[in-house]
Amino acid sequence: MTLRSHIVGVGGYLPERILSNAELSTMVDTSDEWIRERTGIRQRHIIAKDQHTSDLATEAAKQALEDAGLSIDDIDAIVVATTTPDLIFPSTASIVQYKLGGRDFPAWDIQAVCSGFVYGLAQVDGMIRGGMFRRVLLVGAESMSRIMDWQDRSTCVLFGDGAGAVVLEARDEREANGIIGSVLHCDGSYRHLLMASHPHPGAAPGVDPMDLKIDSAGAAAVEMKGNEVFRVAVTKLGEVVGEVLGKYGVRQSEIDWLIPHQANIRILQATAKKLKMSPDRMALTVDQHANTSAASVPLALNHIYREGKLEKGQLLLLEAFAGGFAWGANLVRWSKD
Ligand code: UT7
Repeated sequence: MTLRSHIVGVGGYLPERILSNAELSTMVDTSDEWIRERTGIRQRHIIAKDQHTSDLATEAAKQALEDAGLSIDDIDAIVVATTTPDLIFPSTASIVQYKLGGRDFPAWDIQAVCSGFVYGLAQVDGMIRGGMFRRVLLVGAESMSRIMDWQDRSTCVLFGDGAGAVVLEARDEREANGIIGSVLHCDGSYRHLLMASHPHPGAAPGVDPMDLKIDSAGAAAVEMKGNEVFRVAVTKLGEVVGEVLGKYGVRQSEIDWLIPHQANIRILQATAKKLKMSPDRMALTVDQHANTSAASVPLALNHIYREGKLEKGQLLLLEAFAGGFAWGANLVRWSKD
């Protein structure tokens, strides 16, 4: 038996509240023009006061299950990639399992920041191929607004909240189909360039993330040396897309869709250029969602899927770069009707 994992359902969820660049420029010394020119971002969604990361994840998961024509009773495991868990423990995945009405199957979180979904897809694919699970719900979900220093213009303009989800299913088939394979990397010597420390004050229920001024000693907030992150991201993403193609014997020209992590439009364009791909073959959501960390890749996938752009048999290249630094890529032969 040769097991392969296939994406059979896709979903996404964005909280209602939209924070525009114009509104942000009344909060910190920035402008719509600067943000758009340097990053491509126009707006971001912000989690409601009474919502948690698990609520965003649950909504995205429900949509993915519905899309797959399945119920929670058909699922063997839930994996949630998140940097902004509801609590330190239990896992956000266990809370999502409860909220979906699931019982007595494994659920756990993984943490690879913005690369969480790419890491998760590699992990779940390996477990499905190994015969451990038949159907797995994989979610990337974040409430990044809760770990922002809303007085730091160099970071708070860049991130947003949301969740994306897929249902993966095992199929017995010989030819390379569904998730073809992945490459993952991490180099902890870069850890100081992009980080957030504990504790996580925004996790407390009833706290409006926009009211938090998270820059006091001991509180969590994203810190980033943007320039240096940018340089390494462009180099490593260029390398990793070449590596994944080489590993699985795929030519650049065979890629139909690039589904990149949405951090900065200039980084996305550099990767598309490296692949000699036209920008219109790239999923683009950074303008609408900003950087939603682990939710970014599945939300971008959901975006082009809902627009009806994906066709059965097309080859998709997913990639992400994150704090750690942790980065990676997955190759997917789209097999959904
Ligand atoms: O998801 C994980 C991966 N994350 C990333 O990939 C992010 C990578 N980095 C980036 O996307 C870019 O480096 C940024 C968008 C963060 C910054 O763009 P940049 O072109 O690298 O700008 P910079 O950091 O070199 O800053 C240029 C200027 C500075 O002013 P001076 O020193 O030249 O006077 C900043 O103080 O822009 C200033 N600046 C701003 N001005 C208006 C920084 N943030 C802002 C702002 N509004 N929000």
